Amino acid sequence: MKAIVYERTGDPSVLQVVDRPVPEPGPGEVLVRVAVSGVNPTDWKARRQWPLPAGWQTPGQDGAGVVEAVGEGVDQQLIGSRVWLWEAAWQRPWGTAAEYTVIPVRQAVPLGSASFDLGACLGIPFLTAHRCLTAGEYMPEKLHAGALSDHTVLVQGGAGAVGNAAIQLARWADACVVATVSSAEKAQLAAAAGASFVVNYREQDVVEEVRKIAPDGVHTIVEVSAARNAATDVQLLRAGGAVCVYADDGGAEVTLPIRPLMVPNARWQFVLVYTEPKAAKAQAVRDVAAAVAQGGVRVGEEAGLPLHHYSLEATAAAHQAVENGAVGKVLIGTTDAG
Ligand SMILES: NC(=O)c1ccc[n+]([C@@H]2O[C@H](COP(=O)([O-])OP(=O)(O)OC[C@H]3O[C@@H](n4cnc5c(N)ncnc54)[C@H](OP(=O)(O)O)[C@@H]3O)[C@@H](O)[C@H]2O)c1
Repeated sequence: MKAIVYERTGDPSVLQVVDRPVPEPGPGEVLVRVAVSGVNPTDWKARRQWPLPAGWQTPGQDGAGVVEAVGEGVDQQLIGSRVWLWEAAWQRPWGTAAEYTVIPVRQAVPLGSASFDLGACLGIPFLTAHRCLTAGEYMPEKLHAGALSDHTVLVQGGAGAVGNAAIQLARWADACVVATVSSAEKAQLAAAAGASFVVNYREQDVVEEVRKIAPDGVHTIVEVSAARNAATDVQLLRAGGAVCVYADDGGAEVTLPIRPLMVPNARWQFVLVYTEPKAAKAQAVRDVAAAVAQGGVRVGEEAGLPLHHYSLEATAAAHQAVENGAVGKVLIGTTDAG
């Protein structure tokens, strides 16, 4: 098979296209013929600095494809199933930027008739967004239609991949969603994702605009840039509300005023998808799969998530595009599976 491999960390030039034997699924694993691999910022961050315990790494946490073989202890009936993959390359060298990957069976989730492109967009962004919408004290543990019907959610950075996923999941769960963006083009994307209200944080006063929509403040803030937005977030939380911080874009440290956060019993919840509690992750996988099955998740420009396709051989360019801040989702087509 063809696979992308790197044997030392560095810029995209460390990514090599190699030929290697198709791997054998071990006990509890499935072999998946990858159709589409999704690229996330975590893939280039890992390529730049994560250690390589196996001495090599195929990048790519997310992907979608078809189960081609199963290892010991795995139901044979899964062979031929269309699946989406999550965290393929977390503490394993077998990422999705290859024609085949091996992965524990619980990380290969039935995709039904949804497209491989959609399947490859789910893992990192949607599981992170799910955590941000369920981690607070007053948030539901599960998402489903109606679960957030009395909630107002503010998504900071609504045209980002995680922002888009947060808008889509929150809307599927019937929340009122306000999103912030930096341009008119991104405002269109956030609205296409389903945001009921969009605020341009470069041109408008976010506190003033959100207060018009939610006079008592918002229940949940899904935060990509806490360092830049902390002062705004503090002014917008309602009693019992939570800011769920999933990134350090725009600054690595945050300063918080204690008393204005004590009074509403507010919560600052930090989120890393890889290390979130196992039960919460399992629930996220179930809920995201349900949202997909119910048609609650879409991709493409019309869903606020423009897709940018690259070939497997062009993986370095795909990584570079994400590193450069591509708007939407960068996908790598690996085979003609399915
Ligand atoms: N904790 C986790 O488990 C986890 C999971 C997934 C991703 N991440 C991290 O989250 C970050 C975003 O990932 P992504 O895939 O969503 O990237 P992305 O598609 O590039 O989105 C980032 C978005 O943030 C917006 N943004 C930046 N500064 C902002 C600000 N001050 N206010 C509002 N919006 C702002 C950007 O737009 P403008 O600059 O135009 O506003 C952009 O739309 C990355 O650092 C990634 O590594 C963490």
